[in-house]
Amino acid sequence: MPYTLKVNGKTVTVDVPGEMPLLWVLRDVLDLKGAKFGCGIARCGACTVHVGGTATRSCITPVSNVDNATITTIEGLSPDGTHPLQKAWVELDVAQCGYCQPGQIMTAAALLAKKAKPTDTEIDNAMDGNICRCTTYVRIRKAVRQAAGGA
Ligand code: FES
Ligand code: FES
Repeated sequence: MPYTLKVNGKTVTVDVPGEMPLLWVLRDVLDLKGAKFGCGIARCGACTVHVGGTATRSCITPVSNVDNATITTIEGLSPDGTHPLQKAWVELDVAQCGYCQPGQIMTAAALLAKKAKPTDTEIDNAMDGNICRCTTYVRIRKAVRQAAGGA
């Protein structure tokens, strides 16, 4: 059945089964490969995108649940990679293998959109569910603080 989504500012219609996870729609149907498959059970955060501005695990979100929703992926976070988080990520050389990083940035972006100057505890709480097997956590926290205008 067709579902209509507004993805990164573009309205698209996809004819897929309603139970198909949003992650597969993004990656396999719309060719947006930024969001990654990690665990498939909402435990790692690699698949995080924004649905209506909220950080959402796309691996467990059936497309039928997001019909007519506004979705932003890492590809649509900024037109040219200059979101403050993306700049901080590059300046601090955060990524190692990079696999988890789109999910990390999208989780952080949802936090900063809701709270421009989060406390360290708020950053830690928001980022807690995003796993990085390369253990780049210290640089991730630093980059979120920098993007929020902190040290
Ligand atoms: S792949 Fe979605 S949370 Fe791990
Ligand atoms: S940078 Fe490798 S998993 Fe996070």
